[in-house]
Amino acid sequence: MAVRPITGKTVVVTGGSKGIGLSLVKGFLARDNTVITTSRKVSDAAALQQLRQQYGPARLQLADLDASRAASIAQWAAGVKAAGVKHVDVLVNNAGVYGRRPALEDFTEEDFLLAFHTNTLGPFFVVQQLIKQGLLGVPPPAAPSEPGAPPPPAPAPVSLVANISSIVGSNTDPTVSAVSKGGFAYRASKAALNVISTTLARDLAPSGVEVVALHPGYVRTELSGGNGWIDADESAAGLIGVLEGGGPLNGRFLSYTGEEIPW
Ligand SMILES: NC(=O)c1ccc[n+]([C@@H]2O[C@H](COP(=O)([O-])OP(=O)(O)OC[C@H]3O[C@@H](n4cnc5c(N)ncnc54)[C@H](OP(=O)(O)O)[C@@H]3O)[C@@H](O)[C@H]2O)c1
Repeated sequence: MAVRPITGKTVVVTGGSKGIGLSLVKGFLARDNTVITTSRKVSDAAALQQLRQQYGPARLQLADLDASRAASIAQWAAGVKAAGVKHVDVLVNNAGVYGRRPALEDFTEEDFLLAFHTNTLGPFFVVQQLIKQGLLGVPPPAAPSEPGAPPPPAPAPVSLVANISSIVGSNTDPTVSAVSKGGFAYRASKAALNVISTTLARDLAPSGVEVVALHPGYVRTELSGGNGWIDADESAAGLIGVLEGGGPLNGRFLSYTGEEIPW
């Protein structure tokens, strides 16, 4: 049941051109949200162009964003503000890459840098730049005026950040991550994203931002080479269900089914 329905909100989804991101965009649009989404080249993102025709430019805003470049993220966030957006209620950091699948002896520095720039630094700088533009959360409450007075209560969360991680970034999950091998760069980039998520969760709680790491399932997309157990629409429906589920989300690592994943 949607305890905290996401409807009538402003939602940002990075990497909405295909796969899970595209299904998330469709899911949020179907719930009457205004959606801001990105691709490295939105003019080539046929599915997004079609959706914009269907919903109109006010409901679906498209902009180029290269999540692996901090300068591109800063430029994009400034553009979101300049377009008149006042507040982001939900941010889904979805853009990600797997990269090559080399044997251990063939891994290069570039394999790690690509994964880390896109999957780890990207989500961090998207959050940082939206905060710098004043679009995420609220200012912290004023300090109590009376010496010795109790601190004012933390404000209710007003922005929700979902970082799309992966169960293979878990170090202790007894199922998938304990049995699968290789994928050093991707796995390390998602484990690092998990640390960034829990740290942001603590740092941003006083300013009304909740941060959760989500595993979308093993999903048949380009990133997975078309392999997987579920399709992107099922994944997106599950992820949105978790975000709407109403339980406390801050600092947790949850699967698209709502199950807790160990770090
Ligand atoms: N599929 C799975 O089984 C699975 C499992 C666990 C986690 N995940 C995670 O789920 C997320 C979505 O993956 P997916 O399977 O839907 O992959 P996908 O179909 O390959 O889509 C990836 C999306 O990320 C965007 N993207 C890639 N590099 C980018 C960059 N440098 N800057 C900006 N956008 C970039 C792509 O947009 P453009 O190419 O248009 O720029 C595309 O929209 C990723 O974070 C992935 O790690 C997937």
